[in-house]
Amino acid sequence: MCGIFGYVGEGASFSSLIGGLSKLEYRGYDSCGVAAIDNQKLFLKKRAGKIQKLKEGLGEKMNKKTSLCILHTRWATHGRPNKINAHPHLDSQRKVALVHNGIIENFLPLKNQLIKEGYKFLTETDTEVIVCLIEKFYKKSLEDAVLKAIAKLKGSFALGVISLDQPDRVIAVRKDSPLIIGLSKEGNFLASDVPALLSFTKKAIYLKDQELAILEKERVKVFNFQKKAVKVKVEEIKVKAEEAEKKGYEHFMLKEIFEQPAVLRKILFLYCKGKNVHFSSFKLRDEYLKKVKKIFITACGTAYHAGYVAKYFLEKYCGVVVEIDTSSEFRYRKIKLGKEDLLLAISQSGETADTLAAVREAKKCGVKVLSICNVVGSSLVKESDAIISTLAGPEIGVASTKAYIAQVFCLYLFSLHLAKLKNTIKDRKIQEILSGLKKTPHYLQEILNDSRKIKRTANKFSRFGSFLFLGRGINYPSALEGALKLKEISYIPAEGYPAGEMKHGPIALIDEYRAVVCIAPRDQLYEKMVANMQEVKARKGKILTILNNDDREASTLSRQILYMPKVTNQDLSPFLVAVNLQLFAYFVAKNRGCEIDQPRNLAKSVTVE
Ligand code: M6R
Repeated sequence: MCGIFGYVGEGASFSSLIGGLSKLEYRGYDSCGVAAIDNQKLFLKKRAGKIQKLKEGLGEKMNKKTSLCILHTRWATHGRPNKINAHPHLDSQRKVALVHNGIIENFLPLKNQLIKEGYKFLTETDTEVIVCLIEKFYKKSLEDAVLKAIAKLKGSFALGVISLDQPDRVIAVRKDSPLIIGLSKEGNFLASDVPALLSFTKKAIYLKDQELAILEKERVKVFNFQKKAVKVKVEEIKVKAEEAEKKGYEHFMLKEIFEQPAVLRKILFLYCKGKNVHFSSFKLRDEYLKKVKKIFITACGTAYHAGYVAKYFLEKYCGVVVEIDTSSEFRYRKIKLGKEDLLLAISQSGETADTLAAVREAKKCGVKVLSICNVVGSSLVKESDAIISTLAGPEIGVASTKAYIAQVFCLYLFSLHLAKLKNTIKDRKIQEILSGLKKTPHYLQEILNDSRKIKRTANKFSRFGSFLFLGRGINYPSALEGALKLKEISYIPAEGYPAGEMKHGPIALIDEYRAVVCIAPRDQLYEKMVANMQEVKARKGKILTILNNDDREASTLSRQILYMPKVTNQDLSPFLVAVNLQLFAYFVAKNRGCEIDQPRNLAKSVTVE
C-alpha cells in the first residue's frame, strides 16, 4: 500500500509533482508528504489527511520549481496516521530523506539495536529504521549506504532516498513492492504505479525485484543488490492519460461501472475472432491444457469472487475439479500441486502481496500458473507462465467493478477454450454460449440505462442498518460480491450467504429491520430461492429482489425489485446481477454521504500481508 513518487531533473513545479502523487492516492490516503532539495537546503512538508491538505500546506510553494524531490501518500501499517508518522522520514542530521512502501518485518530488533547504539527515534513507524541505518552506513556514497542498510532488512520495500550531500540523484530500490522508473528529456521519475507518470512521460523501466536504481537528471543506472550493473528494457507505456481521468463522472467508481459494456466489447474483439476463442501470446501448450484435471484458483477480495463464479462454469463445461481459496489462506496450505494441475491467479493490480506469495508457494511444486490480470507490467504477470489480460484499463475507484466483470468474462472465454481442447462440450454448445456472451454488453447497457430506477431503490434502502445478500449456485458468489461492494463503500454491515444455508443460522437475524437482497434469476434453483424468500417474508425481513423482467412470482414477495434482462443462458446472470448491485451500493453510499472512491481504512492495492 502507499504510493511513492520522485523526481530529479531540470526543474518541475511542486504543483505538477503533487499532481503525479495524486494519481497514486488510491493506494493510501491517510497522510502524505514531500521532501525536496534545492540550493543546498532540505525542504520537508507533511500532513495528516489527504493530498489536498498537503497542497494547502504548500500554499505559494505549489508554483515554485524543484529539481530533486520525493513524495509519499500513506496507508498506515505501523503507527497512527498522523503528521509525525507521515513520510518522508529524515535522519537525525536532517540530511537524508526517505519514502517507503511496504513493511519491515524485523524493524523492532533493528530499532532496539539502533537505540542501544545511541540513535533516537521520533516516529512509531517501521520505516524510520531504514533511514537510521542509512545514516549509520553513510560515508561517501548514498547508494552504498542504502545497499548496506537494506541488507539488514526483512520484509518488503520500495524506497526513494535523497541526500543533501548528493543532491544530483534519487536512489530507488525495489524488493517485493512495485516501482517504476519514468524517463524523459526534462528529468527522470520514480513511481509506485503508471498513472503517476502519465502526464510526464510514456517511457518506463519496470524495476525488477531486488534492483536498485540511481536516477540522475540525464541518466538512470540500474544494479542488482550486489551492485552489479544490470541491463534494462525501456518500455512504452500503453495507457492513455485520459483513461485515468473521471471524464465528467462524479466518481471514478461510477465511470468505471459505466465503462463495463465497452470493456466487454474490447475483450470480445481481441479474444473472440469469428467462432473461436483465441488468447494472444498465450503460452500454455494445448497438450498440457488437455490433460489438466484439477484447477486451483487463488485471489483476494473481489477477484476471489470472480474466481468463485468461474468455478461453476469451469466445472460444468470443462469436466475439471476446481478448488478455490483466498490467497491469504492458500499461501499457508501445504497442498501438493501436480503436473496435471493448473493454478489460476486472479488480480486486478497484479501486486496483491498474498496472491503473489500464493503463486510463489505454488510454483515451488512446479505447477503452471495462468494469471488473469489487469496490469500487464505487474509482478504477477512477470511471474506467471501465461497471462490473460483483462483489458479493463486503469481502475482507480477502490471498489473494484469493471475489473470484476472483465475477470469473470475472460474466465468464461478461457473455460470455452479449455472445453474445446478437452472436448468436454459440443462445438454447437460452445457457439451457443459464445453468442450469449456477445450479447452481454448490450444487456449491461440496458441495466445502466435504467440506473435512475436503481438509484430510487437504493435511496429507499439506504436507511437499513444491516443487509443480508442471498444467492444460490453461480450467484452465491454474486451475493458475496454484492455484500462486499456495499460494506466497503457505505460501511453498512452486510453479509453474503448461500440461500440454502439460511436455516443453519442466518435466519435468526431476520426481523423487520433487516434488509435482505435476494438474487433470483429464472434458473434451475429459482423455486428454491423463492421458498427462501417466503421464509424471509414470514419473519418480516424487507426483501429486495433481483429478478428477470417478466418474473411475477418472486416479485409479489418483494418490497422492491431490481430487474435484469431475460437471458437464455442463466450462467450469464452473474454479469447482470453484478451491475445492479454495483450501482445499488454506489447510490446507497452516495445517499449516506460516504467517500465513494476512497473509503476509509482501505487502499486499492494491498501490497502488504
Ligand atoms: O488487485 P487485486 O485484484 O489483487 O485486489 C484484490 C482485492 O484487494 C480487491 O478486489 C478488493 O477486495 C477491492 N477493494 C474490492 O472492491
